[in-house]
Formats: sequence, structure tokens, C-alpha cells
Amino acid sequence: MIGYYKGIHSMKRTLVAEVLLVAVVSLSACSGGAGTGTNAGTAPGPGSGAGWTGVTNPKDVIAARLRLMEQMEKLMLPIDMLQVQDGGDTAVLSANAAAVAAMLQAVPHLFPPTTDLYDPKMDTPATIALPAIWKDFASFYNLADAAAKSAGNMAAAEGKDAQRTASAQLRGSCDACHVLFLRKYEKPKAKASDADFDFDAALPSK
Ligand code: HEC
Repeated sequence: MIGYYKGIHSMKRTLVAEVLLVAVVSLSACSGGAGTGTNAGTAPGPGSGAGWTGVTNPKDVIAARLRLMEQMEKLMLPIDMLQVQDGGDTAVLSANAAAVAAMLQAVPHLFPPTTDLYDPKMDTPATIALPAIWKDFASFYNLADAAAKSAGNMAAAEGKDAQRTASAQLRGSCDACHVLFLRKYEKPKAKASDADFDFDAALPSK
């Protein structure tokens, strides 16, 4: 019983803390993004001051999100395998999905507008994130949120069938965002000079 009351008490405290936090955040939104730190009440919006990495280091932000995506791809390997074969190590599946969920939660915060740098004329552009992201950021944000939830479901899934379903939904949630917001994959175009290429000389003789 004591534990029960304690629980309620600390729940109330958390609630009070949350209400306060919301109040502080909305206050600071009015005063132009100032937090509660040393710059409280004085810090202007993005652009000046330390910590606006989107402004000072946009290329690093792009590199960080690409690295994050690549690591998610690796973590997805055993999860994707569920589509083609039965079973898998549940502990690994669950740990990987939980990591992916946390990473997906960070994803939309790695896309400040200063990283809208896609250049269609470049063969290897700095970023393959399309400008459409910043034209419809709400959709982008929601897709990231939905994907994080799918990963959470994958982490919690128990039993072969539930795991297979959750794995397909998770992969689907990666694809849903990529289809809309990633440069389309194009096969390298054949160049005229390829016609002169001496394939027989290049291939090992039989
Ligand atoms: C909300 C949108 C969104 C979601 C969800 C998302 N991605 Fe991405 N992904 C992107 C964007 C945008 C890029 C391009 C980033 C850039 O170039 O700056 C990208 C790039 C990638 C790349 C690099 C592609 C390449 O050709 O270099 C991989 C790999 C990747 N994502 C894997 C995943 C995986 C795996 C998931 C799901 C677990 C996932 N992504 C979920 C938006 C998303």
C-alpha cells in the first residue's frame, strides 16, 4: 500500500515537473528560443551563439545523419532476414530494434533547413535529401515518428508471426520516407566511351 501511495506521489511530482517544463518551453518560445541556461531571456534565434550546429557545421550534420542511416541499415540485417527465413535470435532482434527506435527518434532533428543542400547536377552530391523535406516538414516529422513507433513494436514483438509482421512494417516505414524524400536511385548511365571498352581483355580468360 505504501508503495502504491509513493507511486502516486512521484507520478504527481513528475506531472508537476512536466507542466512547469511546458510552461518554461512556451515562455521561451515567446522570447525567441531562449532556454533556461546562462543565456535565458537573452539568446536570439538560430544563427548566433554557440550550439547552432546547423548554422556553423551543416556538412557535419549531414555526415552525422548519413552515418546514422548506415548504422540503422546494419542493425536491420537480422530484422530483414525474418522475411526470408524463420526465427532468429530474439535478444538480438529486440536489441537492434530498440537501437533503431532511438536512432529514428533523433532523425528529424538532424534536418535543419541549412542542410537543404541537394544539388541534382552533382554525381555525388553532399546530400541526397530532397528539398521536399522542408516544403512539407510536418509529413517528414510524422514519418520519422511512425517509423520509430514501428521499431518499438519490433522490439516488443514476441513469437515468429508477430516478429515477421513487425519486421515488414518497420522496413516499410523506412521505405515510406525514402520514397518521398530521397533522391531516386539511378543506374550509372552508359557513356559513349564504354562502347570502345575492351571487355575481352579485361575479363579473365577461360
Ligand atoms: C523520416 C524519413 C526517413 C526515415 C523514417 C528513414 N530514413 Fe533513411 N534516409 C532519409 C533521408 C532524408 C536520407 C538522405 C540523407 C542525406 O543524404 O542527407 C536517408 C538516407 C538513408 C541511407 C543512405 C542511402 C544512400 O543511398 O546513401 C540509408 C542506408 C538509410 N537511409 C537507411 C534507413 C533505414 C534502415 C531506415 C529505417 C530503419 C531509414 N533509413 C528510415 C530519410 C529517412
